[in-house]
Amino acid sequence: AAAARQKQATLGDVLARAGAAYKAALKRSPRAVEYLKGRGLSGEVARQFGLGYAPEGWRGLASVFPEYDDPLLVESGLVIASEDEEGKRYDRFRDRIMFPIRNVKGEHIGFGGRVLGDEKPKYLNSPETPVFSKGRELYGLFEARTPLREHGYALVTEGYMDVVALAQLGFPNAVATLGTACTAEHVHKLFRFTDSVVFSFDGDAAGRRAARKALDAALPFANDTRSVKFLFLPAEHDPDSFIREFGAEAFSRFVNEATPLSRFLIESAREGCDLGSAEGRAHLSSNARPLWSALPDGALKQQLLAEIAGLVQLDMKALQDLWAASATPRR
Ligand code: GTP
Ligand code: MN
Ligand code: MN
Ligand code: MN
Ligand code: MN
Repeated sequence: AAAARQKQATLGDVLARAGAAYKAALKRSPRAVEYLKGRGLSGEVARQFGLGYAPEGWRGLASVFPEYDDPLLVESGLVIASEDEEGKRYDRFRDRIMFPIRNVKGEHIGFGGRVLGDEKPKYLNSPETPVFSKGRELYGLFEARTPLREHGYALVTEGYMDVVALAQLGFPNAVATLGTACTAEHVHKLFRFTDSVVFSFDGDAAGRRAARKALDAALPFANDTRSVKFLFLPAEHDPDSFIREFGAEAFSRFVNEATPLSRFLIESAREGCDLGSAEGRAHLSSNARPLWSALPDGALKQQLLAEIAGLVQLDMKALQDLWAASATPRR
């Protein structure tokens, strides 16, 4: 454990030094500053999130790290060891806007980097390292941890830009998953800081898929004292584009009208089911079972059982027996 802590200290140190260098490089790059201004970001919010710029060139970090060839730099994810040419090293992040990712203690654990144009891939994230796991960490949680308590709820978005734009325009209680699906570990971590979560994904097909995955991740945590909601933005919008086009008040209305988990669960289960036919009602029952089963015991779970039983046109006892029976593996 002591060795692991030591490793965390050294990797964290390397990442913090890189973060400082990227920040300094942003000040020297009018092109990168113009890009951020073009996206509507204030200097203040850029500073608050420690945004930076990774310059062009294959070995920009060599001027920051005299120990550029140290394996620790490869382990940090900042430097890539070439597979073709032994001993050859180069920077992972080149000519990108840099978003430092910090853990809840404020230690640097990784980066996200965005191209300034339309090149692919649009975003590049740090790889999994001993201090960084995409399935566990949320972008912006360090910056949001105090606002979370003040606002009383967390907004969970898909993107770096969503978090920064929301913070600038009055929603500093926003975090983002790191280009991966929302996991149970993400939800678990969030509920250490708040008892209310509003998922706000993009209004596109990927966003709707992300919402379904978030539902799955959140179900085991949806007890009777917590609130989980889903905000569906108009198609073609994400929180960043929406709040910039329509303003904070309009976004606030969407937050207030977000869909509660119970309704999203029912809507998801009945999707594509014709409730006018016995087959459709049976299909709903089969869709609902895994969702309902994932809920912790409590009043919410009982209410949903009653509601689903009503839709399926079975009494609660019959539906529950049926689900219990179909859960037993057949031999
Ligand atoms: P902007 O164009 O800067 O507004 O980005 P966005 O955050 O709106 O991007 P998008 O909705 O396309 O994607 C959501 C999130 O998925 C991003 O914030 C990234 O974390 C991740 N992502 C998007 N594109 C890529 C990619 O090409 N590679 C990886 N690894 N992640 C990506
Ligand atoms: Mn999207
Ligand atoms: Mn966007
Ligand atoms: Mn987006
Ligand atoms: Mn189905």
